[in-house]
Amino acid sequence: MVDSINQRKSQHIEVVLNEHVTGNQITTGFDGIKFVHNALPEIDFAEISTDTSFLGKQLQTPFLISSMTGGAALAETINKNLAIAAENRGWAFALGSTRALVESEEHRPSFQLREYAPTIPIIANLGAVQLNYGFDAEKCRQIINITDADALVLHLNSIQEVIQQGGDTNFKDLLSKIDKLCDQLDVPVGVKEVGWGIDGTTAKELVNAGISFVDVAGAGGTSWSQVEKFRSNEPIKKKAAEAFTEWGIPTTASISSVKQQVDRQTIIGSGGIHTGVDGAKAIALGADMVGFGRSILEAATQSSDAVEEWMETRELELRMAMFGIGAASLDQLKTTDRLMMK
Ligand SMILES: Cc1cc2nc3c(=O)[nH]c(=O)nc-3n(C[C@H](O)[C@H](O)[C@H](O)COP(=O)(O)O)c2cc1C
Repeated sequence: MVDSINQRKSQHIEVVLNEHVTGNQITTGFDGIKFVHNALPEIDFAEISTDTSFLGKQLQTPFLISSMTGGAALAETINKNLAIAAENRGWAFALGSTRALVESEEHRPSFQLREYAPTIPIIANLGAVQLNYGFDAEKCRQIINITDADALVLHLNSIQEVIQQGGDTNFKDLLSKIDKLCDQLDVPVGVKEVGWGIDGTTAKELVNAGISFVDVAGAGGTSWSQVEKFRSNEPIKKKAAEAFTEWGIPTTASISSVKQQVDRQTIIGSGGIHTGVDGAKAIALGADMVGFGRSILEAATQSSDAVEEWMETRELELRMAMFGIGAASLDQLKTTDRLMMK
């Protein structure tokens, strides 16, 4: 079981790095939104602050590495590079699914990154559906202990599980199990999608169940029906996956929808975000944090320096966008009236 999970993770990395894994027409929506440039910003670029806090820790930027990997051999290098860079740049870091951790000790080092990232928030990850397949609070506590994580994020990936060979597809009664888990764990529990977005009503239900943060992981970026299509050797599933190329709630629509229903919990805008300008738009739409997935992966296969350079570029883009509209802080960016639909 663990070997097949690790093999799957290696293939995910290979496919994501080498194949066309986005939809053809669906977009995040960021292209349809513009900031109205302010030629007279009346602020000092050097004084722009992007400081924020997340999971009780101070961060230098509102940026997060989205859950990606762990377990497989290449994953160890990737996660180490990401952890070192995240610590140096002050980003939050979400691990890929930690399910295999409980089942085997073999690949634990790739998930044990606290020594490289002593101060930033580290978030452990598990498929919410696993709550129907033998994962309970005790196993989740083990995951938190092994990873020394500050929080657990549960991913919602119904469509992916159907296409994935041997996927777990019983998504019944998860809300009540999530509710119970939130009560039982000492750390905050969040939810995320994997690239099809979360709508406001669903987010509200999850918040009422005790969820502390919602990562929309909207559509327009990495499409998991595409990724699983490349991996699948079941012809019918491959064909059916094609019909889902354009599926999902675009990231911008998902952030706006969740923002309408959720006001106290942290909203993470993610899904197809490649630049700090899109990150700025996500924050102006209502996100508190911004998540980057596939766009950071290539640098993570190289070195922590490559990741840091990539991160520094995204940070500069965010600050330049803020300068361009005269927003000196994230609060000012959140309340800007300079966002317009094209
Ligand atoms: C190689 C790879 C592996 C991933 N593995 C996981 C995972 O284990 N758990 C999870 O919740 N999401 C996983 N994701 C989904 C991302 O966290 C993210 O939600 C999704 O890719 C959309 O963001 P993006 O368009 O920026 O990539 C993975 C993404 C990539 C690219």
